[in-house]
Amino acid sequence: MADEVRFGIVGLGMGRDRANKAVKTPGARLVAVCDILEERGAKAASELGVEWIAEYDAMLAREDIDCVGVFTPSGMHCDFTLRALQAGKHAFTTKPMDLTVTKCDATIAEADARGLVLAVDFESRYNPNNHRIQAAIEGGALGRVILGDLRMKWFRSQAYYATGWPEGWRSRLATERGSMANQGVHYIDLLQWWLGPIRAVSGAFGTYAHKIESEDLAVGIVDFERGATGVIVTTTTAFPDQGTRLEIGGDRGTIAWQNQDLVLFKGVQGDAGSAGEWESPEAVDLSLDDYPAPEDLPPHIIADMTRAITQGAPVQCDGREGRKSVALFQAVYTSCDQGRPVELP
Ligand SMILES: NC(=O)c1ccc[n+]([C@@H]2O[C@H](COP(=O)([O-])OP(=O)(O)OC[C@H]3O[C@@H](n4cnc5c(N)ncnc54)[C@H](O)[C@@H]3O)[C@@H](O)[C@H]2O)c1
Repeated sequence: MADEVRFGIVGLGMGRDRANKAVKTPGARLVAVCDILEERGAKAASELGVEWIAEYDAMLAREDIDCVGVFTPSGMHCDFTLRALQAGKHAFTTKPMDLTVTKCDATIAEADARGLVLAVDFESRYNPNNHRIQAAIEGGALGRVILGDLRMKWFRSQAYYATGWPEGWRSRLATERGSMANQGVHYIDLLQWWLGPIRAVSGAFGTYAHKIESEDLAVGIVDFERGATGVIVTTTTAFPDQGTRLEIGGDRGTIAWQNQDLVLFKGVQGDAGSAGEWESPEAVDLSLDDYPAPEDLPPHIIADMTRAITQGAPVQCDGREGRKSVALFQAVYTSCDQGRPVELP
């Protein structure tokens, strides 16, 4: 296996941060950046001491690039990732993996057929506390999980939807899809990671405060296979912005998480039984320190891809895992469109 991974990054909005990381990560080397906008491409190239390539196909033709990171608008993610895989490169895309599971499936199949690494870049997957929460839930700290609720109450101005390139992509169905697919997907990924597979969803959505094609408020009611129920609210209309909160409730305790921080972890210890059996339950503070995170957790996607390609280690969120949040928001949207609950296969 190679002892160095040579990266090319396409799309230099958020991608600029990952290009910066590729320059600083041991075992990684940034070879080129790609963007059709000269002001972004030329600036990044001169600041990072690499080449700027305007044409994506020209970057894919380069033999000195092993891995491509995709940071184009959301509806283009799998098109760009698939093309990278077809050119024989390992590839990752920023969130969401794409806007439809059909495109995710084709991309996963290509990576499988070629034996290439495919990953989806969710920052939350590199936060050790999020791993501890997953371990605590899996380890039974909350007892039987009953309710998982996610409330993402963000504010985005009308002007926000005009930013980015191609101009206005954040406001269009084909390239962004809405608050659940674009912003909410970070937290949908966490909810499904922590609580497991989803059996069915019912949805409602609308466009309330912006002149955009996509929704700015979506709600999903979720049945988890493990028997729990979930409520997902995502919006960019909340004023003032209230951030994001996830609460996981079980019959022996609750975890509450807000903006990447644990804000409450309480329950019962020992043989105290569970809710319904208690006369006067006493909740005690529980500690996440009892649930270790992986010791070798990479700090970000560049380190994760570098390790996967040089050592064969699994990535934090591979294509199949990244597809799950797409399947969930797509099912919410289908339910909204068709006015009926939608089952996930
Ligand atoms: N925290 C996160 O993980 C995070 C944060 C922000 C954005 N994102 C994701 O990153 C993606 C891009 O968002 P952004 O805010 O950077 O948008 P942006 O519009 O600022 O950047 C997109 C870039 O892609 C370039 N581009 C578009 N088409 C291209 C093409 N054919 N060839 C080469 N370059 C092309 C554009 O010129 C632009 O510079 C979105 O999917 C978004 O969801 C993730």
